[in-house]
Order: sequence, then C-alpha cells, then structure tokens
Amino acid sequence: MVFHVLTLFPEMIRDGLNTSVTGRALDKGLISLNAVNIRDFSTDKHLHVDDYPYGGGAGMVMQPDPIYRAYRSIVGEGGKRPRVLYMTPQGSVFDQPMAEELAGEEELIFLCGHYEGVDERILEEIVTDYVSIGDYVLTGGELPAMVMIDAISRLVPGVLNNEDSAEFESFHDNLLEHPHYTRPASFLGKEVPEVLLSGHHARIEEWRRQESLKRTYERRPDLLEKAVLDKKDLAYLKSLGYDKT
Ligand code: ADE
Repeated sequence: MVFHVLTLFPEMIRDGLNTSVTGRALDKGLISLNAVNIRDFSTDKHLHVDDYPYGGGAGMVMQPDPIYRAYRSIVGEGGKRPRVLYMTPQGSVFDQPMAEELAGEEELIFLCGHYEGVDERILEEIVTDYVSIGDYVLTGGELPAMVMIDAISRLVPGVLNNEDSAEFESFHDNLLEHPHYTRPASFLGKEVPEVLLSGHHARIEEWRRQESLKRTYERRPDLLEKAVLDKKDLAYLKSLGYDKT
C-alpha cells in the first residue's frame, strides 16, 4: 500500500508515522509513504503557496497551481489515477468500514489543506473523496491524514504481529471489545475476574461476549442497532434493561 500525502508539513507526516506499528510497517516495506511538500512546487520567488480570498474576508486561501503541480509529480499523464482524499470537516465522517474499503486500494493520495481553505477549482479537478475525522475543526489536514493512514495500515496484511488481532477488536461486528487483564492477579485490591483464571475456555468466551455486550450497551448503545445479535445476546441485553423495539 502506497500513501502519498500532499502537505505543507511533510516532516510532521513522516515523524508522526515513523514510530511504532506504522514505523515498523514502513521499515518492512509493507506500506510506503511519500510526503510531498506543496511548497516545492511554488513558482513564486518567495515560495508563497497562498493568497488573499477573492471577494474579501479573513484568512488566506491555498492557491491551486502548486497543488496541481505537486499532484502531477505523483500521477503524471495518463495511467491509473489513485483516489485523492481531501481532509475537511465538510467530508463524510471516517469510520472502520471506510478504513476497510480504503485498505483495498493499492495507492492513495491525501490532500492536506491549511489556512482558511483551498481554492475550489483544484478540489473539483483532482479530489475524489471528501473526508472528515469528526465534527470539530483542526488547524490542518495533517493529523486527519495520519489518523486515516494509521487506521488503514493496520488492516494491511502483515502489519499487525498477530494476524487475528485486527479481527477481534472494538467495532468488529459493531460491538466494543471486552476488558483485558494481565498480571498481577491482584492490583490495588482489585482482583482479575475469577472466570479468566478458570482455564474454562467456553465460560471465558461467554463472559467476554457478555462484557462486550454490556460495554456497548453502556457506552455506545447506538452501535447495538447495527450489531448482529443472537437470541442469547438479546436475552442478556434484556437482563441489563435493553429493549430492542
Ligand atoms: N481539517 C480540519 N478539521 C478537519 C477534520 N475534522 N477532519 C478532516 N480534516 C480536517
């Protein structure tokens, strides 16, 4: 999987992703990162990439030409065009199904805006997807791009150590994950749930399922609407007060 990022802060992207799991995936060549500095494509003698907005108003607007040249340095003429994701609070909200869908692409281009915005014409010309990471406004698209690259990378085969661990996690089946425990068995007077020490595999699985249902009911009841629940799950949720009507 190749991630291209069009940005004014390529070092922020590289530094942010060169650590931990994504850092290892980069070292192993399972993913690759091409952070392109839009400023390198300015033809202005002071390397400006922004200008005042037509029609007046506060703030500056990123100009279309440097972005277009930076984009062209990636795709060239003809050939297959990767999707271009523009990071904006006006986009569709990023979630796990979107991460899974994007993980199926071979190459992605992220466009990170700054200042008040980006000239609309370059967006119309190159952007295929408008994506937000949530309903709040950040100072630029770099953190959203890193959030998305992290979430997509961990779905690339081989990136996580344990092949199974991407499967059994929060949002798999639209349920939150059960709690986890490790040694010591007693911490600040709090004991690890008895069942986990029992060695009884079926009981442990049942306990985990119930904890997962309880947690989802308490913390994210909205997810239960989309979860696949069997009779036993529904009976347990009912005992907690959940009423699926
Ligand atoms: N740029 C600024 N805020 C953003 C957000 N919430 N999501 C994606 N891009 C953004």
